Amino acid sequence: MRRMRRLRALGIREMVAETDLSLKDLIQPIFVDERISVPRKIEAMPGQFRQSLESLPAEAGLLEDLGIPAVLLFGLPAQKDEVGSGAYDSQGIIQKAVRLLKETTNLVVITDLCLCEYTSHGHCGLIKNEKVLNDETLPILGEVATSHAEAGADIVAPSGMMDHMVSAIRSALDVEGYTDTPILSYAAKYASTFYGPFREAAESGFAFGDRKGYQMNPANFAEALWEVQLDIEEGADMVMVKPALPYLDILRAVKDMFGVPTAAYQVSGEYSMIAAAAEKGWLDERAAFLEALTCIKRAGADMIITYWAKEFAKLE
Ligand code: PBG
Repeated sequence: MRRMRRLRALGIREMVAETDLSLKDLIQPIFVDERISVPRKIEAMPGQFRQSLESLPAEAGLLEDLGIPAVLLFGLPAQKDEVGSGAYDSQGIIQKAVRLLKETTNLVVITDLCLCEYTSHGHCGLIKNEKVLNDETLPILGEVATSHAEAGADIVAPSGMMDHMVSAIRSALDVEGYTDTPILSYAAKYASTFYGPFREAAESGFAFGDRKGYQMNPANFAEALWEVQLDIEEGADMVMVKPALPYLDILRAVKDMFGVPTAAYQVSGEYSMIAAAAEKGWLDERAAFLEALTCIKRAGADMIITYWAKEFAKLE
């Protein structure tokens, strides 16, 4: 008689596991705040901290020693303005942080490439009459990309969901001689309420409106494939699906259809839901994040951006 439970015995269960979650696939996000000198707690993300330029090398060194291969950097500048000029300042927070990381570690440094943390209105592009302008934003994204590459970024990751951002960034990088800098595009990025805690973490809340005019509608599947296809055609080397857990169908389809290196972003809200439930004693945090990460991997992610990378590494 066929007995499926035979292969579920301890030891055998692990041998026949189809998915292998491994530290080499994980990317740890880091927030670097220009205005602080010691790490500051992120209240909405229990267990997560913003780093300062002073604390960054030690934190990054720890991540490297734990075997984490890569970090995704977000900068919080001291000043914001209408056009987000801090995003492409050679002495900006992110540029300083990248240089510091490249001097002190061998981590792969990925930079989030967007204007929202640098604009006074908090949107991902230039604004006119409360509308986010697309084509006018593109040259600025090109400048941000070259400033990141010049600082030493290994990979740039545009997250603003402007149309043609990938081709604008690719040509700007190529013109400046950064032909070998890969682009990880946030290709299928949804207008998700699960980014909520990130607004505190990166202080990227917006002064008016929302992001529904440029990020995708959670109701759409086919559109995600279209977005990914366009970004690949424009020159994206890797693509991302974001958020992760509520969007596993998208992840599976993207990996199956395009076969390009595919990242999933387990976002702030996905982190905080589990962390908060764990604080209340309602969930086992470790078991919950291991299960969530395994499922994201099973759905086709080659890489996972996760706030639990460091905790995962400590278990190894
Ligand atoms: C900025 C950006 C956001 C996130 C990553 N890059 C916020 C947004 O698009 O509103 C969210 C990450 C998270 O919630 O963990 N463009």
